[in-house]
Amino acid sequence: MFKVGIIGVGYVGSIHLEKFSCIDGVCITAISDVDSAKVREAKLKFNVKSTYSDHRSLLEKADLDLVVICVTNHLHHDLTIEALELGHNVLCEKPMALNLKDARAMIEVSKRMKKTLLIVNNFRWDYLNPSIFQLKSMIDSGWFGRIYHIRLNRIRSKTFPFNDYSRWNLDSRLSGGGVLIDLGPHMIDLGMWLASEYRVNAVLGSTDQGLLKLEKIDDFASGIIKLESGVTLQVDLSWSSHHKPSWKIDLFGDKGGASLRPDEGDQGNLKLFRLENNELKTKKLDENSLSVSHEKSLQQHVVKCIQQNVASDCSAENAYAVLESIFRWYKSA
Ligand SMILES: NC(=O)c1ccc[n+]([C@@H]2O[C@H](COP(=O)([O-])OP(=O)(O)OC[C@H]3O[C@@H](n4cnc5c(N)ncnc54)[C@H](O)[C@@H]3O)[C@@H](O)[C@H]2O)c1
Repeated sequence: MFKVGIIGVGYVGSIHLEKFSCIDGVCITAISDVDSAKVREAKLKFNVKSTYSDHRSLLEKADLDLVVICVTNHLHHDLTIEALELGHNVLCEKPMALNLKDARAMIEVSKRMKKTLLIVNNFRWDYLNPSIFQLKSMIDSGWFGRIYHIRLNRIRSKTFPFNDYSRWNLDSRLSGGGVLIDLGPHMIDLGMWLASEYRVNAVLGSTDQGLLKLEKIDDFASGIIKLESGVTLQVDLSWSSHHKPSWKIDLFGDKGGASLRPDEGDQGNLKLFRLENNELKTKKLDENSLSVSHEKSLQQHVVKCIQQNVASDCSAENAYAVLESIFRWYKSA
């Protein structure tokens, strides 16, 4: 049995509870949260054996194959280091840390302790599956030729109630910033993963307080990241806006293009384009490409990588590259 412990059983911790608990051969044996009501509720719902009010007891007492860290951003560094130092493999929520020094220290400790450190990157499984995996396998097969540009947009009209500022995301000491550090890790990672390039050459971006108008909390962010391979990522993000919520991923290659619209239904949300005899043709997906084999969830992917000791796209090094581009973006804004 693969034993999982979860620290923080709030919004995202509950999602991890659900997803890990439905994997064959996986058992959530321990949880911890400073909020005892949340611990009680999760224990009952998921039949968890051991519960703790403080994370240190969980880390010291529980026999685990993986610790999942689902607390507020400002605690990611400290709790990850504690877990690694006590000999645990760790899956930490995004963003990896609030600064690059802390993120590097997390990687160094994982290397020293010879323990796996992965950072959550769930969008491709939770919202973009299977289209994004089909797109990725077609990129890798050369269908689009040389990829030179990827446009990624995640626009929301409203994320938080405008009259309730109690949410920790809106306190920069706890969150590290606004929409850029919140949705940026997901969308920038998607771009780098599709481009198979995590080395960053240059970043130019802007941020704005948008509709929320809170100090040190960006509500809108727009930027361009130039990767070492020459591919550019153009990323637009917003928490609140006078716009219909939307997702967009557009791919520009010298042999073809693609548009992915995740909120436009499962079938047909991935469109492929090619210029043939100077005419734009919309291509149907090759049926064979529909059966791309991959894990059903991030959680399944993580369990497999740890059990089989294989490399993951959700590596701490990849997350570090993403975080570095976010801080370069904030600096240029
Ligand atoms: N991957 C995603 O799609 C996604 C979505 C939402 C949030 N997140 C990330 O997940 C993390 C948590 O966000 P959330 O929305 O679940 O917040 P939340 O406030 O709903 O949950 C955080 C929980 O951590 C608990 N906590 C705080 N300090 C603790 C400690 N020392 N020990 C144990 N528990 C402690 C809180 O009581 C709370 O229950 C953040 O880093 C956020 O960026 C990721």
